Amino acid sequence: MNIGIHSVSSQSGGAYLVDMIKQGHVVYGYARTSHHGVEFVDTVNQQGGIYLIRPDHNRNDEASKFVPLGDGKIGHDLRSLIDHSDILIIAHPSHYFVKTIQELKEAGITEKRIPIVLSPSRTFAVPYLWEILGAGYPFVSFATCPYSCKTPHSGTVFIKRRKRNWVASLEGHFNHEHVDLLESLFPQAIFNNIPATTSIGNIGAVLHPAPYLLNYEAIKQAEFYEKVYNFYMDGIADNPEVANALEDVDQVRLKIADALGLQVFGLREDPRDNVWKVLIDKLRREEARHADDVEDLRHIRHDHLIVISHAITSVQHWLDYTYGVRKIKGESLQKAIGRTPTYQKNSIPQSRYVEEDIPTGIVPLLAIAERLDIDGAPLQRVLDLYHTHYKNGTGHDWRDLAHFSTDFIVDYLTGKLSVINRRVPVQSGLISDPEVVYRVVNL
Ligand SMILES: NC(=O)c1ccc[n+]([C@@H]2O[C@H](COP(=O)([O-])OP(=O)(O)OC[C@H]3O[C@@H](n4cnc5c(N)ncnc54)[C@H](OP(=O)(O)O)[C@@H]3O)[C@@H](O)[C@H]2O)c1
Repeated sequence: MNIGIHSVSSQSGGAYLVDMIKQGHVVYGYARTSHHGVEFVDTVNQQGGIYLIRPDHNRNDEASKFVPLGDGKIGHDLRSLIDHSDILIIAHPSHYFVKTIQELKEAGITEKRIPIVLSPSRTFAVPYLWEILGAGYPFVSFATCPYSCKTPHSGTVFIKRRKRNWVASLEGHFNHEHVDLLESLFPQAIFNNIPATTSIGNIGAVLHPAPYLLNYEAIKQAEFYEKVYNFYMDGIADNPEVANALEDVDQVRLKIADALGLQVFGLREDPRDNVWKVLIDKLRREEARHADDVEDLRHIRHDHLIVISHAITSVQHWLDYTYGVRKIKGESLQKAIGRTPTYQKNSIPQSRYVEEDIPTGIVPLLAIAERLDIDGAPLQRVLDLYHTHYKNGTGHDWRDLAHFSTDFIVDYLTGKLSVINRRVPVQSGLISDPEVVYRVVNL
């Protein structure tokens, strides 16, 4: 396949470059002509490829190695990126999408109409991009970036972890060919046609900006004195007030999902813990039975997550199926975060938790809540704090939904504006009938 990577010089751009080449695809990687972008292109071209670093003792025993570019190319030419690509992945933070899509339009992408992957989209990205490329242009919204990765220096990428599965919503008009390409390129992704699953399922909007802003002084002080500040432990698990504020933000998200008619797990008034237990226990039983076979395990998770991925879950439920932190009935978010192993290791506060997650998370979620007559006060509190500390705003992709009608917002989020010719991808044979998938979803 011919794959295009926009912003190949970003951390995840480098990870995509490595994995696409390793899977045998021919890549054109585009970088801006910024100092950083030029340095990346020059280094990779001089090296003839990119160095991949993996942690010692990683799950797949994958060695660190040099990955040659092969027939691929790295450069600064948007026209070459478009001409080359069957699918285009945008690998920069989501608050730069509008500018990027405008530039892609000027370079001629509308005529080619290749699916564009937003990695990740955050909340309510695509309608803004349809305004540029035309309603129905095929976009794929990833709920999350598939990697945990860094670029220790130019021309090198460190992939700490690849996510086993993630949700992706197909938004716009897709033909069979598009869907087949996407499914073969990303077998770990769980595709659906409901934008709310990625837009309202935006967990980053809950976990990132509120703790950053509520702990702003402590974070800045730690930076000043070059002290370690563990974002999740110091900021949330040891801080009940912040954890409660987070839980309130999360509840607004769940109320929005409920008002849209989606399945919800973790709503205070109706947490549906018993239904959750049935779903997750079944997954755990199957995982235990196939514990020795990595490929079987991958398929089992994929199929079970089809069911879960059509629902919107609280952060506690998300921790359960993402990190295996078993959901305990009635447990607070503070306690659940406190016993999440990956958060117990050092996690550094990052400025993108605000710069990206306010305009593309808190702002659109608050706007949706207001349109649906849901009290958005916990989100407004976070936004007010943002305005206190960031007087000028970022100016990028401020998704306040001001010019979209409420009918449009609801129709978009519930998938009424997309036309997708596809079959339900079922891999393990455990759920063999798409009807069954939807019956389970509609429990
Ligand atoms: N990396 C991870 O482990 C990770 C984990 C979870 C989620 N994510 C999410 O994945 C997405 C990508 O993250 P990342 O870590 O790969 O990003 P990153 O490395 O922080 O991205 C910076 C990129 O953005 C580009 N950029 C900067 N200013 C820009 C502008 N004004 N217009 C267009 N592009 C601009 C930079 O281009 P230059 O090279 O030209 O400066 C660079 O390529 C984000 O949404 C992030 O939240 C990443």
